[in-house]
Amino acid sequence: MPALTAVHGDITTQQVDAIVNAANSAMRGGGGVDGAIHRAGGPAVLQECIERFPDGLPTGEAGWTTAGDLPSRWVIHTVGPNHRAGQTDRSLLTSCYRRSLEVADELGARSVAFPLISAGIYGWPKEDAIAAAVETLATAETQVADVRIVAFDEATFAQVSRGLG
Ligand code: AR6
Repeated sequence: MPALTAVHGDITTQQVDAIVNAANSAMRGGGGVDGAIHRAGGPAVLQECIERFPDGLPTGEAGWTTAGDLPSRWVIHTVGPNHRAGQTDRSLLTSCYRRSLEVADELGARSVAFPLISAGIYGWPKEDAIAAAVETLATAETQVADVRIVAFDEATFAQVSRGLG
């Protein structure tokens, strides 16, 4: 099981093997952390998304691209459920974390940084989004040794830190 920590900041600056993107099924970029990752990674990331995922990705799934200009080596893109649009099946959210770590294992990544998937534009209630992340990541069977949950703002960082106990 990995060492799970909370980090306050911008995921695009994390010095890890892979960062996880909270993408959408179209896999052609968007707002929130997706927008930040594509801005920082540059056009190579979008180009690779188009090539590797011509039909996009289903909700709950994950796939990888290289990371362009980002400090990490890979971006693992996962598609969280859109709670705001009525996708409230929690197993889709936990699947994002599990599948992302499986992809990280396929890549041989040893350190991975996650945002709080679905907790922004997709409107998953924050406390439960944190609980789903913590319980899934803390108990995962993975070769990834260093797993970080990156909280963008101070209040969320405090909440995640409490969630880690
Ligand atoms: N670093 C770390 N966390 C961030 C960053 C950042 N640079 N920017 C935002 N967050 P969201 P979702 C936090 O909305 O809810 C996009 O348009 C943010 O505060 O990025 O899964 C996609 O294309 C929140 O806690 O993702 C999809 O259409 C968390 O990241 C849709 O939004 C997730 O917020 C996905 O929505």
